[in-house]
Amino acid sequence: MANDLILGIESSCDETAAAVVRGGFEVLSSVVFSQADEHAVFGGVVPEIAGRSHVREVHGVIERALDEAGVTPDQLAGVAVTARPGLIGSLLVGLSAAKAIAFKWQLPLIPIHHIEAHVWAATMESPELELFPAIALVVSGGHTTLFRATGPGQLEPLATTLDDAAGEAFDKVAWMLGLAYPGGPSIAALAEEGDPKAFRFPRYRPKPPRGGGERPLGFSFSGLKTAVLYHIRGQDALAPTPPPDQIPRRADVAASFQEAVVEALSSQAIDAAQREGIDRILVAGGVACNLRLRERLGQAAREAGIAAHFPAPAFCTDNAVMIAGLGWPLLAAGRTADLALDASPR
Ligand code: KG4
Ligand code: ZN
Repeated sequence: MANDLILGIESSCDETAAAVVRGGFEVLSSVVFSQADEHAVFGGVVPEIAGRSHVREVHGVIERALDEAGVTPDQLAGVAVTARPGLIGSLLVGLSAAKAIAFKWQLPLIPIHHIEAHVWAATMESPELELFPAIALVVSGGHTTLFRATGPGQLEPLATTLDDAAGEAFDKVAWMLGLAYPGGPSIAALAEEGDPKAFRFPRYRPKPPRGGGERPLGFSFSGLKTAVLYHIRGQDALAPTPPPDQIPRRADVAASFQEAVVEALSSQAIDAAQREGIDRILVAGGVACNLRLRERLGQAAREAGIAAHFPAPAFCTDNAVMIAGLGWPLLAAGRTADLALDASPR
C-alpha cells in the first residue's frame, strides 16, 4: 500500500494519547497527556475523573500528534483506536473521536485490543526481525498474563494472576510506604538505595496438581502484599500501619519487594518459553519499564538461550504509538470495523 500512515488513539485508562506511525514501526509523532496528577490524591484511577479528563484533552492531543508528524488527515491510511479492554467511559471518548475522523475523511477504522498493542510495542525496537512466535509477558496496572503470541494481534493466553496485577501490587505497596502514585517508578527509585536481599518476602509458585503432573504456570501477588504490610506493622497483623517516615529501612523494604516481584515474573516467563519450546520473550506493559526486571529477566533469558525484547521505556506505559503501530498489520490483514464499532471493558 503506497500510503502507510496510521493515526492511533488511546484512552483506555488515565492517559489520553495520539500518535502517527508509518508502516507499523516508524514513529512520526507521539503525544501523551497523563492524568496521573489528577488521580494521585486518590492513590489510583477514578473512572469518572478519567472520562471527563479525556473529553477535555482528546481533540488537542490528536491535533498535536498530526501537527508534530506534519500530516493532514487526508494523507492517512487509517485510524486505529483502542476499543477494549479498559474503563468504558474512557474508551468511549477515544473511540468517538476516532469514528468522527474516520467518517469525515472516509478512512478505515481499525479496532485495537490494548493488550495486543502493548505486545506490539515490544516488537517495534527490532523492525528487521520476525519475532513471532514468541512468549508475551504483559505486566501492567491491570494485567499480569503470559501469552503465546503467534502474530500481530494474535495472543493465546497461557497463564494469568490469581489476584493482583504486578503493577497494582507496586501501586499498593507504594501506598503503604507513603510513596507517590504511580507506585512502580516510586518503588524502583527508592529501591536503588536499598538492599534487595534485606528481607525474604514470599515468591508465589503454583502448586503441581494433586495427582502429580506438571506444575502449572501462574502468578499471585496478594500474599506478597500482605507479607509487606505485616512486615511494616512489625509482624503484628492488628497493629496500625505506621506513618511512612516511621517505617524502618523503607528502601530495603522497597528493594526486597521489587526483587520478589521481578523474580516471580522472570522465572514464570522463562518456564513458559521452555515449555512451549519458544526462544523469544516479548515483555510489555508499564512494569516492563522496571530496570531490575529488564536486568534480571534479560540475564535469565541469555543463560537459557532465549532472546528477551522490551519496548523503549516511553512505549512501555500507555501510549498511542503502540496503537498506531499495530494498526498497520491489522489494516493489511483486513481487520477493520464499521462505525457501529462498540467499546468493551473486557
Ligand atoms: O501499561 P500501563 O501504563 O497501564 C495499564 O494498562 O495498566 O501500566 C501502569 C502500571 C502501574 O501500575 C505502574 O505502577 C507500573 O505500570 N509501572 C512500573 C514502572 N513504571 C510503571 N512498575 C514497576 N517499575 C516501573 N519502573
Ligand atoms: Zn496499558
